[in-house]
Amino acid sequence: MKGIIIYRSETGFTRQYALWLAEELGCRAVDWKDRKKVELERYDTIIYGGWFHAGGIRGLKWFQRQLPALKDKRVAVFAVGASPADDPGVEEALAANLSGPQWEGVPRFYLRGGLCYEKMGLTDRFLMVLFRRMVKKKEGADSETYRGVSHSFNGMDRKSLLPLSAWAKNE
Ligand SMILES: Cc1cc2nc3c(=O)[nH]c(=O)nc-3n(C[C@H](O)[C@H](O)[C@H](O)COP(=O)(O)O)c2cc1C
Repeated sequence: MKGIIIYRSETGFTRQYALWLAEELGCRAVDWKDRKKVELERYDTIIYGGWFHAGGIRGLKWFQRQLPALKDKRVAVFAVGASPADDPGVEEALAANLSGPQWEGVPRFYLRGGLCYEKMGLTDRFLMVLFRRMVKKKEGADSETYRGVSHSFNGMDRKSLLPLSAWAKNE
């Protein structure tokens, strides 16, 4: 398999998954910032990984624009978020991001990342203040969601990459 992973990550969780996957597949993981240095057409398996930001997958619009040139390739997307993997909202968010004929047949995977307030930019920190306020009002300060988003945490699980790596290896 001649594969490549392109990832977009702000606080490091998506990057870590991309690096684990690259190790597992024996291929390169390239930061989105260096995307223009990569000729995607030279690879037969192309995996894009981005993080969830207010329901959208960061960098996905760019990847979508590459799809017409990748028609005969094996393509997959993984998204990383703070939500638990069994949260029903995750499937909905994946479906909302990856809908339309261009995404038909493209496998999608969700991997739980975490929250890292220390590495977040100012705008994102502010957005999280608003999000916490909303959750507190809706579900209360004792709710699991509110407590979950009130501090940094690492919810990563390397084993959750297994379905994606099996797909990439065509197993
Ligand atoms: C402003 C903001 C919005 C977010 N929106 C979502 C979301 O809609 N769904 C979700 O599961 N996680 C959401 N997250 C959590 C991030 O997706 C999570 O922290 C992810 O692990 C970040 O990946 P990174 O470390 O690669 O940047 C949000 C985080 C921030 C800061």
